[in-house]
Amino acid sequence: MTVFTHAQGIIKTLKEVTEEGIGMLNSEKTAETLAAINRRTTLRPKVGIILGSGLGDIADSIENSVAIVYDEIPYWPRTTAIGHAGRLVIGTLEGAPVVAMQGRVHYYEGYTMEEITFPVRIFGEMGIRSIIATNAAGGVNLDYAPGDLVAIRDHINFMGTNPLIGANNNKWGQRFPDMTYAYDPDYIEKAAQVARDNNIRFHNGVYIAFSGPSYETPAEILMSRALGADVVGMSTVPEVIVANHMGMRVLAISCVSNYAAGVRPVRLLHNEVLEGMSRAVGSLAAVIKGFLRVIAGDVLGA
Ligand code: HPA
Repeated sequence: MTVFTHAQGIIKTLKEVTEEGIGMLNSEKTAETLAAINRRTTLRPKVGIILGSGLGDIADSIENSVAIVYDEIPYWPRTTAIGHAGRLVIGTLEGAPVVAMQGRVHYYEGYTMEEITFPVRIFGEMGIRSIIATNAAGGVNLDYAPGDLVAIRDHINFMGTNPLIGANNNKWGQRFPDMTYAYDPDYIEKAAQVARDNNIRFHNGVYIAFSGPSYETPAEILMSRALGADVVGMSTVPEVIVANHMGMRVLAISCVSNYAAGVRPVRLLHNEVLEGMSRAVGSLAAVIKGFLRVIAGDVLGA
């Protein structure tokens, strides 16, 4: 009876129960995951780095590193995409204590948004307040060429879902997080300065995320450009939303691996996209390292 007459009250109660349940479940999971990572290293990273398709090699420059394969980390989602190594590398890079993901999982692999963003939750619980996310992306902006780097200054979420859907865990963040400065303007400027110092082609632009795994149609790319997008991809947005939910500062960089569909009269082939990535790896590594050198003092003091 009360279900109908006090519907709102009942819904609230159910929501609270769910919140408690989810909070407990997640904190149990994260505690186990954190313990497993902390058993392998005494280093406490301050910056989390997510390395996308074809970009994993950057983690090889991490010094005094410990690498943990994802299989050995409880609840860590396993990568299935080609071009992903599937290891967590912890150590120092340019004086900054970092944890790098060599490979991430995508929505198109069939993982839930919660699974995709679980590593970012772990980063947050590790005390990380700064994240560098990287990805391969198609160039929607006609001024962009394969090999260019793009600091993401904003995004359009076209994945059709959001990683924060469901009960909110208040320990992690608030129900309606602001996304106005989702991509830290100061971080973008610092990265741009490093790029200028190194003569690297570096833009800042808007990233539009589709679920994939099919590449976009030429019509979808026309639409994306009309909406104000500069680059297109199938990742990053979920992680950035969750990082913002936890109050982290985000630098996200796209490596333009190909002209987006229809920009040139050719088909998009995954191995050619990966080849395009290899052109951007060197400049991406230079920007990440230069950026870490600049923020190392700040993050160590934090
Ligand atoms: N579209 C979507 N994702 C991508 C692309 C693209 O053109 N290139 C690399 N990742």
